[in-house]
Amino acid sequence: MAVGRLRLGVNVDHVATVRNARGGALPDPVRAALLAIEAGADGVTAHLREDRRHITDDDLARLRASLTKPLNLEMAATEEMLEIVLRTRPHAACLVPERRAERTTEGGLDVVGGHDRLKPFAAALRGAGTRVSLFIEPSIEAIEAARAIGAPVVELHTGAWCHAVAAGDRGRADEEFSRIRAAAERASACGLECHAGHGLDYGTARQVAMLPQVIELNIGHFLVGEAIFVGLVEAVRRMRAAMDEGRALARATPPRSS
Ligand code: PXP
Repeated sequence: MAVGRLRLGVNVDHVATVRNARGGALPDPVRAALLAIEAGADGVTAHLREDRRHITDDDLARLRASLTKPLNLEMAATEEMLEIVLRTRPHAACLVPERRAERTTEGGLDVVGGHDRLKPFAAALRGAGTRVSLFIEPSIEAIEAARAIGAPVVELHTGAWCHAVAAGDRGRADEEFSRIRAAAERASACGLECHAGHGLDYGTARQVAMLPQVIELNIGHFLVGEAIFVGLVEAVRRMRAAMDEGRALARATPPRSS
């Protein structure tokens, strides 16, 4: 298949995490979002959690008013969030599972068990003119279930793979990456737009960029951490370069026969 450009969505949640550690207004996630765009991000992602532990309603309203590139809102499939989407009309919404006790989004949505609830919810978002994606485990079963729900986009959860890479568990990492590859291939064959995210750093972003079916990455925690050392603009530029390198390798590699 043709290897197109890979988009980068920068998630600014953890700029708000640092701000909220002290209260007050600084550092401002909107300023970070504008800088990320200046540095080459194709869009900005923010997760408005039920408990508002990082991004707040005011952040969301300011992001919506200030950005010149698409805003992707990560959200749980709740009535409260639906009302917020109808009011703020972000370009895209990514439905994620949410548990108050988790530190981060630990797994993909239960798209099999949640079919009856998620299908009308996704339709309501689409009716508001918002592009819907489902954050799912990289499995064939989840891809099929996402298709049945009628979402045009899936975002594959890369957390388990990144975790195995970081732990130096080569066997597990290879296994997890094969799952991501197979899920990306199936998504694309089903006509679903395929995104990926969670836990990505320069190395894993470069590797996942080699999958031509994946057309957008959403990356937050690592970039905000890197920004402490090299600044946010430089961190986004380095990430962009790592992704472009992976894409260039994909273009140079003959397609796999399946
Ligand atoms: N994509 C989704 C759907 C997420 O929930 C998150 C975490 O908020 C990310 C991407 C980004 O993950 P990370 O902050 O680990 O880069």
